[in-house]
Amino acid sequence: MENTIAREEQYQLATYKKMPVVAERGDGVWIYTSTGDRYLDLYGGHAVAATGHCHPSVVAAIREQSAKLLFYSNLVYSEARARAAEKLVSIAPASLTKAFFCNSGTEANENAMRMARMATGREHIITFSGGFHGRTADAISATFLGKYREIGKPNVPGHLRAEFADIESVRAVADESVAAIMLEPIQSMAGVRMAGSEFYRALRELCDERGIVLIYDEVQTGIGRTGDWFFAGSEAGDRVIPDIITLAKALGSGIPVGACLVTDAIASQIKENDLGTTFGGGMIAMAAVTATLEAIESDGMLGNVREVEEYLRRRLKEVEQVVNVHGRGLLLGLEFADKAKPIHEALLEKKIITGTSSDAKVLRLLPPLCLGKDEVDLFVEALARVVGH
Ligand SMILES: Cc1ncc(COP(=O)(O)O)c(C=O)c1O
Repeated sequence: MENTIAREEQYQLATYKKMPVVAERGDGVWIYTSTGDRYLDLYGGHAVAATGHCHPSVVAAIREQSAKLLFYSNLVYSEARARAAEKLVSIAPASLTKAFFCNSGTEANENAMRMARMATGREHIITFSGGFHGRTADAISATFLGKYREIGKPNVPGHLRAEFADIESVRAVADESVAAIMLEPIQSMAGVRMAGSEFYRALRELCDERGIVLIYDEVQTGIGRTGDWFFAGSEAGDRVIPDIITLAKALGSGIPVGACLVTDAIASQIKENDLGTTFGGGMIAMAAVTATLEAIESDGMLGNVREVEEYLRRRLKEVEQVVNVHGRGLLLGLEFADKAKPIHEALLEKKIITGTSSDAKVLRLLPPLCLGKDEVDLFVEALARVVGH
């Protein structure tokens, strides 16, 4: 273990502050280390492992596809791609009829903003304080959270900022130069912040009134995380449907894949060669997408998310140090009166992986959607001990 850590530290450029865990194998909600320890994974590798680690049918689909054809680009047709696109569109709100595949969340957002500019002939994009949209040039320029825009300097021009959950702040900047309003419908990194359902409705009405494209960045909230396939169309969002949804993370169960789902109206503005990608829509990723969506469906994970959320919220009431629980489904932010980082670290000592956020008092949970009540019990009991209840 020491040896692996030392070699990574020596040869890999710094990215995140890593936990002292050498992950070797995964099974459902568990991660096993090279030294034989097992960790309860309530973070899912940045919300990726929605179907659980190494879901057998996802593994089988990847294996089967890899023996047939690893890759060919969008210059040819592929049954794997046709199936994935058809399946993804079939679970999407009915007005979102076409999928564009890429490789990551940031790329999905870049392409969504580009499509909005193409469809409207306008340049400006409104995003929100606290939203995170990725680290490539246009996406980081749309990210008004902490120091990210600073890291991305010089920023792409034409990005306007509004305040989340404050429709008047949006109205104030939404003039005829604005191509799109883009938001994380639940702001995850900011500490799992949600707006009241009337905010999403007001955004939809404003966009319709002023000819603006509404983009939901569902890189975290999509693919079942909130107990619905998408936040778009859900009750919590007053059934509002945006013009574009962007996806990544859970979509391929760990095989890198991103996507934009778009309306006919947007799709009709996109011509050949306007969008392109070498790897997007590759066969392994497509096999993973279909298998992921089918696994969520056949294992009843959406129902499980709702049931386990309710159970977890109920049990958390026993821990008085948890002053609030934010979010929906299995995208939850546990708010404490004091800093959450020491709690995250103490839980790690107890072999439970959780996440922090840019709100110092909020601990984030983004577990696999197959999390069970026994594991919730394990977590709540460990949490109670850690916070000294
Ligand atoms: C809401 C949201 N959008 C976009 C991204 C960027 O995704 P990726 O890291 O795959 O580029 C992330 C990543 O954390 C995210 O949480």
